[in-house]
Amino acid sequence: MSRPVLLDLFCCAGGAAMGYYRAGFDVVGVDKDPQPNYPFKFHRADALDFVSRFGADFDARHGSPPCQSFTAYRRKGHGIGDGYLNLIPETRQAFSELDGPWVIENVAGAPLENAICLCGSSFGLDVRRHRYFESSSALTAPPCDHSWQTPRFAPATNRTNLRRTVEVGVWRIPLAVQQKAMGIDWMTLHELSEAIPPAYTEWIGSQLLSELAVAA
Ligand SMILES: C[S@@+](CC[C@H](N)C(=O)[O-])C[C@H]1O[C@@H](n2cnc3c(N)ncnc32)[C@H](O)[C@@H]1O
Repeated sequence: MSRPVLLDLFCCAGGAAMGYYRAGFDVVGVDKDPQPNYPFKFHRADALDFVSRFGADFDARHGSPPCQSFTAYRRKGHGIGDGYLNLIPETRQAFSELDGPWVIENVAGAPLENAICLCGSSFGLDVRRHRYFESSSALTAPPCDHSWQTPRFAPATNRTNLRRTVEVGVWRIPLAVQQKAMGIDWMTLHELSEAIPPAYTEWIGSQLLSELAVAA
């Protein structure tokens, strides 16, 4: 039996993609930049243009629009629209116009609606990396379980206390250590810093597949 196909917009090197693949989807990625390490079929294109032209060809859709508006740039006192694009509303609109389940992923502070939060601690990973997921489906989320993440990793710069999790995206920690903490072994440091752990979308993908099976 053929596997359902999921469209992975704003895919980067495929952290989200790998989780959906492991759950049971075939995955096709789209990014505006070349992604030589993306592990599945890939199109270099504008995500919103691609979904408007080809989105109906897919059984399910995921989008991870750029999140700078909501992270460091915002912390410096800038608001949404002060220089960075917020592509969440257009992604939501495009997905809502198509049949089939969809998911939009982003960081804390992003304007997602009724989002669940996933945490590395729930999946036995040495990161917390809270990420938020809005969906057309009523997703469930395991609670955070920070208690087992005891202080045991190299301190952050200018600190003496051991960290409870592995810092991701920093040069002074071996890439292999960061990859292991994320459950990803094919990415560069920069790609890893953009990614979500595949465990998150494997969790979500299983729920989307159950929904698709019921609808079939
Ligand atoms: C946060 S990363 C996605 C990470 C990915 N979900 C993962 O888990 O590995 C966002 C990506 O969006 C891409 N991007 C930004 N604007 C885009 C656009 N208009 N069309 C397609 N890709 C875009 C960037 O090049 C970047 O690779």
